[in-house]
Amino acid sequence: MTTRYRVEYALKTHRRDQLIEWIKGLLAVPFVLHSQPTAIYHEESDRLAAVATATYRRYAEILRDVEVMINDHIEHQKSGRLGQSKLKLLVPTVGPFFTSLLLEDAFIFQDQRRHISRRRFVAPSFNDIRLILNTAQLMGLVRGSQIKLVTFDGDVTLYDDGCCLVEDNPVLPRLLRLLEQGKKVGIVTAAGYTEASKYYARLKGLLDAISAHKTLTAEQKSGLVVLGGESNFLFRYDQSSPDLLTYVRRSEWLLDEMRTWTEEDVTALLDIAEASLRECVSALSLPAAVLRKERAVGIYPLNGHKMHREQLEETVLIVQSILERSEVGNRLPFCAFNGGNDIFVDIGDKSWGVRACQHYFGEIDRSMTLHVGDQFLSAGANDFKARTACTTAWIASPGETVQLLDELLTLEEQWAPKQGL
Ligand code: IMP
Ligand code: MG
Repeated sequence: MTTRYRVEYALKTHRRDQLIEWIKGLLAVPFVLHSQPTAIYHEESDRLAAVATATYRRYAEILRDVEVMINDHIEHQKSGRLGQSKLKLLVPTVGPFFTSLLLEDAFIFQDQRRHISRRRFVAPSFNDIRLILNTAQLMGLVRGSQIKLVTFDGDVTLYDDGCCLVEDNPVLPRLLRLLEQGKKVGIVTAAGYTEASKYYARLKGLLDAISAHKTLTAEQKSGLVVLGGESNFLFRYDQSSPDLLTYVRRSEWLLDEMRTWTEEDVTALLDIAEASLRECVSALSLPAAVLRKERAVGIYPLNGHKMHREQLEETVLIVQSILERSEVGNRLPFCAFNGGNDIFVDIGDKSWGVRACQHYFGEIDRSMTLHVGDQFLSAGANDFKARTACTTAWIASPGETVQLLDELLTLEEQWAPKQGL
């Protein structure tokens, strides 16, 4: 049993999103019952069209039922009876929801683009459902509350892994549009530097574009902040600084709970993390060097080397479990994650980062905040933690972030006239 459990855990749990897997399983039933893989397109097109219509209707019905179940979960959440939520019983790892998810409408929207219900050989996939959930979340935000703050992860979300936000990145006009609309924008990245110049080097395209922008007001420009090291170093946009960013002292933005994090605990946690990273480097013969920083410790590959996915995952799971079992790891929040070709342990995590942005901008509500990121697996991923602080969208590439922001604008434009806005 133990072995089976460990295999299941090691191979699956941290690499699966249980809500998505569960929805995938529900949609697999009509797919299996209705799909006609042996039918020939030309000869039986009438029959195929009828099947596609039936499959479409079943998918939409299932997603409407899940939508109702999520609303019921939200009611239980509000009254502190989460244990009795049916969704929680079916998907024990499911977290809180801060708005409804309009899954049926989102399915209709995505089906027009991805033709999910017309497929006969490929069942609704992880990516189909991930994108339906993203659209459902945007619809829930646009029709429910109103988005006041959008936070973004950096690597893979705004730019390719390890790259910079350069001037021809198509996401730039979309970010400027958010600021123009009066929304606040936070870049909540694990990349942790204490100097503004380092962030200027990585975000130059965006900062220069804001600085040169003719119509953005000073107030709109000040709607941009960068929160580095996940929840450790806050910088605000500052037109007068040579780096266009100014460091904000911790006393000005820390949440009350974060004030209890002591320097002794920070050092103790990083010491344990560093020791376990060093052990992994040696035990797994990783071609990596250790980097200790003020609020983080990590390993990065030696010149010309790459670590395998398995080595990275093994290391992150080991370090995380050692920290979880330590005393200080129970007092002080931390995030151990696999950065694709490096591993870092940061003090705090993105839930604290997003909450700090909400606090800095005047207590913006969780139901009015959206975090966009690429790392939402439950272990070894850093955007996952943001789920407790706000609504989220899970993208797989910077191109998808652009699509998501365009989708948001389309939905806002469609919805506002109906409201007489
Ligand atoms: P993100 O995707 O924007 O959160 O950035 C994650 C990447 O930032 C990591 O994979 C590292 O390559 C890099 N990084 C640089 N400094 C730090 C740090 O202090 N903590 C964590 N990641 C860091
Ligand atoms: Mg990322």
